[in-house]
Amino acid sequence: MEKKKVGFASGIGFVLAAAGSAVGLGNLWGFPAKTGANGGAAFVLLYIASVLLIGIVAMIAEVFIGKRAQANPVTAYKKTGKNMGWVGLVAIIIPAFISCYYAVLGGYTVKLALSSFDWQPEKFATFAANKGDVVLMTAIFIILAMVVIMGGVKDGIEKASKVLMPALFVILVGLVVYALSLGKGVSDGLSFYLKPDLSAISGQAILAALGQAFYSLSLGMGIMVTYGSYAGKEINLVKSTAMICIFDTLVALLGGLAIFPSVFHYAAVQGVDATALGLGGMTLMFTTLPLVFADMGMIGQVLSLFFFAMVTIAALTSVISLLEVATQFVIQKFRANRKKSIALVAAICFLVSVPIGISLGFALNGKDSFTVFGMDLLSLFDTITNTVLMPVCAFLGCICVGWVIGAKKAVSEIEADGVKMGWFGGVFAVMVKYVTPLLITVVEIFGLRDLIFPEGETGRTFSANGLYIVLTAYALVAIGVIVYFIFFRNSETGSNKDEKVIESVVVE
Ligand code: PHE
Repeated sequence: MEKKKVGFASGIGFVLAAAGSAVGLGNLWGFPAKTGANGGAAFVLLYIASVLLIGIVAMIAEVFIGKRAQANPVTAYKKTGKNMGWVGLVAIIIPAFISCYYAVLGGYTVKLALSSFDWQPEKFATFAANKGDVVLMTAIFIILAMVVIMGGVKDGIEKASKVLMPALFVILVGLVVYALSLGKGVSDGLSFYLKPDLSAISGQAILAALGQAFYSLSLGMGIMVTYGSYAGKEINLVKSTAMICIFDTLVALLGGLAIFPSVFHYAAVQGVDATALGLGGMTLMFTTLPLVFADMGMIGQVLSLFFFAMVTIAALTSVISLLEVATQFVIQKFRANRKKSIALVAAICFLVSVPIGISLGFALNGKDSFTVFGMDLLSLFDTITNTVLMPVCAFLGCICVGWVIGAKKAVSEIEADGVKMGWFGGVFAVMVKYVTPLLITVVEIFGLRDLIFPEGETGRTFSANGLYIVLTAYALVAIGVIVYFIFFRNSETGSNKDEKVIESVVVE
């Protein structure tokens, strides 16, 4: 059998696949919703600053770790330093958790896309409470991702990204143009979104922006390590990374540019206050926007189809990356074939997603009958990963590059692949070693403070539930570390070459 390299066929394939991971619900929903909740344009500025200050540096670090090892995160972190492999295992646990709740949300977007021609906005809570429907949609969504991953890195993930990402972009630009042409209310929407009210810059908003940047760029969870491992020597690490960050930010900005003018237009037509419609959280995407589309009649139905198809694409390419991390590890560590590995990973993801979907359905209908530590399961998983674990993992990624490998050595390794870093090499070295880890630590500390001592009406008070959540998250890290040292430290954890060997054995 012809020996094929396991990995992306081209540099642009890598960029589009990584951008596919980065561009997701975080851009089209999270970013506009957080902008809406944090006072508009000021948040946009904070977000861009966060991408520049920590996003690019942390992403270069993670892609670099993967690319130099050409292996899954456990092996890749082992290769940064003898005792660092456990970071890789922690990095795999995070996407494993995220994929389970992300799939539920992906199912929601599939439902909204499919029912564009027959949807009354008030149906959302009813749908969310309909367990059968939610489970079915989640299953459809996971199966779509599974089929792509079964195709392999080059013929599945890369090919799909090359079609889906341009499609997403074209739809998005079309929606922006349409939104800007709506007339009444558009300028109010634009000024809310683009005219900074600097007084809206608060510590809270800064933290939200930094957290959003991590999430949106898929950092701190092994994804960029995995995708980086599939990138060949020929890619320019700095340029590709910059392209991914620019594309991701552009999609988020355009997402807001499609959404705010539309919502403010609707509000102006109805004679209501736009901010009272609900511009944050789940309300924005799943209640307010369907309301806006419904009000536009026939054209609104078509727009709804395009909009939610676009959001489904965004979510799909993200969930593909989430599931690929675990799949890669199963293939390489257990020397299993790709199809069996993803089938197993997808089955587990589906099983865990069922209670999450049910719990969220209760919560969206105002019932707290299925909560843990005072949260529905989706919010719980989201908080554990986003607030606690991702900063830990992103921090460790920077430490591995800045201190374990050594910032100077890292820069010279990157340059040895033909990338001229110039002055940026010096900046990167200082950032990855000191500035970025420090900023990430601040994010983590304040995130923990908000969980354990949330701001209430009478100031900050202790929350036992918050403490339990933090302890659960750190317990997961501890379990990852223990499992690593007992089971994986002294054993082979494989590399990308293994997949080639396994598949050729299967074919013969
Ligand atoms: N970056 C994706 C988004 O913006 C979310 C995501 C998170 C994807 C984690 C993969 C992993 O929605």
